[in-house]
Amino acid sequence: VPDTTPTPPFSRLAEVYDLVMREVEYHEWLEFALEVLATQAWPGVLYPGRMQVLDLACGTGNSTVPLLDYGFQVIGLDASAQMLAVARHKLPAITFIEANFLTFKLQQRFDLVMCVFDSLNNLTEPQDLATTFANIAKHLNPAGWLVFDINTKLGVRELWDENTWAGELEGAVGRVSYHWTHRYDPITELGWVTARCMTESDEFTEQHGERGYDPHELLPMLAKAGFVEVLFFEYPDFAHPTPETPRVWCFAQTLTPSLERTG
Ligand SMILES: C[S@@+](CC[C@H](N)C(=O)[O-])C[C@H]1O[C@@H](n2cnc3c(N)ncnc32)[C@H](O)[C@@H]1O
Repeated sequence: VPDTTPTPPFSRLAEVYDLVMREVEYHEWLEFALEVLATQAWPGVLYPGRMQVLDLACGTGNSTVPLLDYGFQVIGLDASAQMLAVARHKLPAITFIEANFLTFKLQQRFDLVMCVFDSLNNLTEPQDLATTFANIAKHLNPAGWLVFDINTKLGVRELWDENTWAGELEGAVGRVSYHWTHRYDPITELGWVTARCMTESDEFTEQHGERGYDPHELLPMLAKAGFVEVLFFEYPDFAHPTPETPRVWCFAQTLTPSLERTG
């Protein structure tokens, strides 16, 4: 009888993550982000080799690859040892650190922190998101940027309301069938995915919870954490978010040195 006890989030999923996510537009996401940062005259667009970039919630390194391809100096950070094991195998020359959003403490500062694929929605307590923003701000150089995508409340409600994703895939890890069900709890306002995956030899189930965050909730949190410039866009057309937007991209900048001096 297979053990159906859910495994912790992003543990066993690491084995099949790259196969399930094989069509995700990681390179397009970075191009989109850099187009926005170009409008803000961020020097990293022209001089990537001089820029220190943190791929926060790097997972299996899929979001790290386009950053390296563009020429940035990158390190990755994630809480999941299993996801990081895949990342280290894929990119053996890169430093990957196992740590948590809320408590990570690194000796270096960054010019850009990227956190993609709605990873911050995993913080189901708003206070934890506020703490994370403050921690990120501490790790950014003056005029550094934090870029992240995040599901809005509507996004979590609609995406997660009784939807099912199922299919069968074949890749380096063999044949994988997946059956993911989504559920939205209107009382707690949390979305839950129950991800059941069957490999040729085994099966497992993981449960992930997400909370949606709207721009008007993010703005005061980011301001309190020390971000001075905050922009929101829809992907891929750079539209300004509306109440119908399911996922937003947020660009938040720390204070420039000249502003710091003049107060
Ligand atoms: C959807 S995956 C995204 C991974 C990668 N950025 C990508 O785009 O494929 C979310 C990642 O967030 C990480 N994560 C979730 N909560 C975290 C936390 N509190 N601290 C650090 N990492 C966390 C998970 O371990 C997982 O690898």
